[in-house]
Amino acid sequence: MLHANVTTPAAASLPPLTSELLEALAPRYNRVREVIPEAEWAVYAPYITAIQELKQQRNAVILAHNYQTPDIFHGVADITGDSLTLAQQAAATDAEIIVLCGVHFMAETAKLLNPDKMVLIPDLKAGCSLASSITAADVRALRQRYPGVPVVTYVNTTAEVKAESDICCTSANAVRAVESLGVERVIFLPDEYLGKYVASQTDVEIILWQGHCEVHERFTAEELRLYREESPDIYVLAHPECPPDVLAEADFVGSTAGMIRHLDQARPSQVVMLTECSMSDNVAVEFPDISFIRPCNLCPHMKRINLAKILDALAYLQYEVEVDEAVAQRARQAVERMLAIGRAESR
Ligand code: 13P
Ligand code: SF4
Repeated sequence: MLHANVTTPAAASLPPLTSELLEALAPRYNRVREVIPEAEWAVYAPYITAIQELKQQRNAVILAHNYQTPDIFHGVADITGDSLTLAQQAAATDAEIIVLCGVHFMAETAKLLNPDKMVLIPDLKAGCSLASSITAADVRALRQRYPGVPVVTYVNTTAEVKAESDICCTSANAVRAVESLGVERVIFLPDEYLGKYVASQTDVEIILWQGHCEVHERFTAEELRLYREESPDIYVLAHPECPPDVLAEADFVGSTAGMIRHLDQARPSQVVMLTECSMSDNVAVEFPDISFIRPCNLCPHMKRINLAKILDALAYLQYEVEVDEAVAQRARQAVERMLAIGRAESR
């Protein structure tokens, strides 16, 4: 899929596509040639060259989520990973500018952890159906309804919602975050399916909210059974944002990074990953010996980011992510508590 074909102002200053430019990028292209056709690479190459140069001039770091397209993930990103890795690495970077290639809540989390740095997102409209499923007022109402019950909040939320929470989590440490509170009952927000998955892994009682990921909720158990009928040896990895009947039939359930780590260890010959579409392309580059069946559920928010917008972000220092300091102080505590418990996925 061609993602750099959006003309934006900085594209006017792109270097010309020459054989020298292509040769300089050849080692990079050799890694991704199975997932990016040559004709597409010829469009991406000037952008990749310009972004790499500008990134150095600006002392910027590019963080890219596992759902970004391979031209971004393998072409310009300095750090790639799941939302926990991106938060951990945002907290550790020395760069002056962070360009977050992912969705808005990820950029906001990076800003919470780096209040004095410039955090840019190439498209401000890159949202998330989970983040928009709940407001800070909803959390306050839940606290009134369940007095004294702590709130565990998935990072896929706004800073305002995080500010009303006791601790954040990602899919890589949700059970540990719930159990870290040492209580019998928690409110878990906003992903109902992740919450149900956590409930299946712990004795802590979970009060749920009915938020869903518009990408993962589309996977069905019937679809999964069809994959197994067609390929009886297929190994199924599913993200915990999928519905419970899908998770019940998967061979492995985990965060996007957890899936990669698990593949590295289990090395199945044929795999289907029930998660966003670009993830299989990115992972296939790392595991050429594994054959991937690729159901294509795209996240429209992740797909708002492309090379042309990243170049503009660096050229014009746009779009800066800001969080009101009073909100940030409280939200930061919930995120820092999450970082303190770390990753909790077994292979
Ligand atoms: P991970 O934390 O597993 O990267 O998932 C983030 C996300 O948005 C999944 O849809
Ligand atoms: Fe949000 Fe789902 Fe997109 Fe992840 S895949 S960013 S949870 S809408």
